[in-house]
Amino acid sequence: MSDVVLVAGATGGVGQLTVAFLLEKGFSVRVLTRNQQKAEQMFDNQVEIALGDIRQAQTLPSAVENVTHIICCTGTTAFPSARWEFDLPKTNKLQGLIEWGKIYFNADYRNSKARNSPDRVDAQGVRNLVDAAPKNLKRFVFVSSCGIERKDKPPFNLLNGFGVLDAKQQGELAIAASGLPYTIIRPGRLIDGPFTSYDLNTLLKATTGGKLGVVIGTGDKLSGQTSRIDVAAACVECLNHPATEGKTFELINAGTRPDAIAWTELFAQLAPPA
Ligand SMILES: NC(=O)c1ccc[n+]([C@@H]2O[C@H](COP(=O)([O-])OP(=O)(O)OC[C@H]3O[C@@H](n4cnc5c(N)ncnc54)[C@H](OP(=O)(O)O)[C@@H]3O)[C@@H](O)[C@H]2O)c1
Repeated sequence: MSDVVLVAGATGGVGQLTVAFLLEKGFSVRVLTRNQQKAEQMFDNQVEIALGDIRQAQTLPSAVENVTHIICCTGTTAFPSARWEFDLPKTNKLQGLIEWGKIYFNADYRNSKARNSPDRVDAQGVRNLVDAAPKNLKRFVFVSSCGIERKDKPPFNLLNGFGVLDAKQQGELAIAASGLPYTIIRPGRLIDGPFTSYDLNTLLKATTGGKLGVVIGTGDKLSGQTSRIDVAAACVECLNHPATEGKTFELINAGTRPDAIAWTELFAQLAPPA
């Protein structure tokens, strides 16, 4: 069976770059998207499109059929925004402000109205995707976040004010408990992108400005910024690096950037000491 990689969250900043790098490396790519037209425009007939939503488990079996790898780059915003898709009544400006006040300060109200919150996407949605994944999957790659194990410490306590790190952690736990071969990548604050209106060729030329190298670490000790370009490259590179299987690692930008990122050497750091 030839390799087919399903990218969930393919229309997002990391997801688009991931698709571009996969195609560059010759993988067959299927994208899971909620918006067929957006994906068609973005990927110019170079990918197979599966219409689906990770919150809706019934949309996933056909999307995962015969895939050998899944890369999950889905996400919503850490703080309540339109991307949480609140189910709010049509109101005037003043009532609208009151609604947003209730959303910010009343957790029960917020949870009852948010259709695409971190809890729905990063926790339940990821659980649905894990449950739907073929049992013989070669790798499930998940883009998580730095701070999962430091939710009580600044700045992560602030970032987690509306539960995004709790939800990502639930997604991580579902993946680790699934028995599937997995890799969990925890980036810092994302920079570069989201490149929302670029074609594939332009995406492949995207650069980080050549400033900083890539550092990986384990145990959730690193903090800093991470280029979406490097996160996407890591998602693709780890498919061909057995050292990343069953591993969770942070990925941030620091130090001098070499001409080419030495992924094999970086991933070798994940091997247990001899
Ligand atoms: N921003 C940061 O500083 C930061 C830091 C650490 C980690 N992260 C994580 O890094 C990942 C990638 O970030 P990004 O900036 O590339 O994300 P992004 O641009 O916001 O893209 C998110 C993707 O998820 C998709 N999505 C949202 N809800 C979905 C659902 N219910 N079903 C299926 N797909 C859904 C979106 O599709 P639509 O186009 O249909 O909306 C979009 O393709 C995210 O998981 C984010 O949480 C971000």
